[in-house]
Amino acid sequence: MVTPVIELSRIEKEYPGVKPLDKVDFAVRPGEIHALLGENGAGKSTLIRVMGGAIKPNGGNMTYLGKPVSWQSPKQARAAGIHVIHQELALFPELSVAENILVDAQPRNGLGLISGR
Ligand SMILES: Nc1ncnc2c1ncn2[C@@H]1O[C@H](COP(=O)(O)OP(=O)(O)O)[C@@H](O)[C@H]1O
Ligand SMILES: [Mg+2]
Repeated sequence: MVTPVIELSRIEKEYPGVKPLDKVDFAVRPGEIHALLGENGAGKSTLIRVMGGAIKPNGGNMTYLGKPVSWQSPKQARAAGIHVIHQELALFPELSVAENILVDAQPRNGLGLISGR
């Protein structure tokens, strides 16, 4: 079977009085697009923050490209290739989707200009 790009196994995250992530299993394989659906407070943002390195889970395992990972920061996850695009207040409507995704890491050409390619 194809190695998942990212795989979460029995991920747990608990806050005082609430446990939004209770042994969550989730995997994304190459080329897949997933939509994570759930009511307000279901734990969607918490799960994304775990994958993006913004919070550490209390339990469970995560692999990225087949290797165990435990992100120490969003910067570390980003350097590995995980970009989190937040939906609220942080998008530039006049830029393309690609430009929004790479807004903090615009690829440059030999002249130091942003590379359209
Ligand atoms: N930093 C935090 N401290 C305490 N509770 C939190 C924190 N972040 C999220 N929660 C709680 O965890 C649950 C899941 O929140 P969240 O992941 O934001 O849900 P969703 O994105 O699906 O609406 C909610 O009950 C929320 O109040
Ligand atoms: Mg949310």
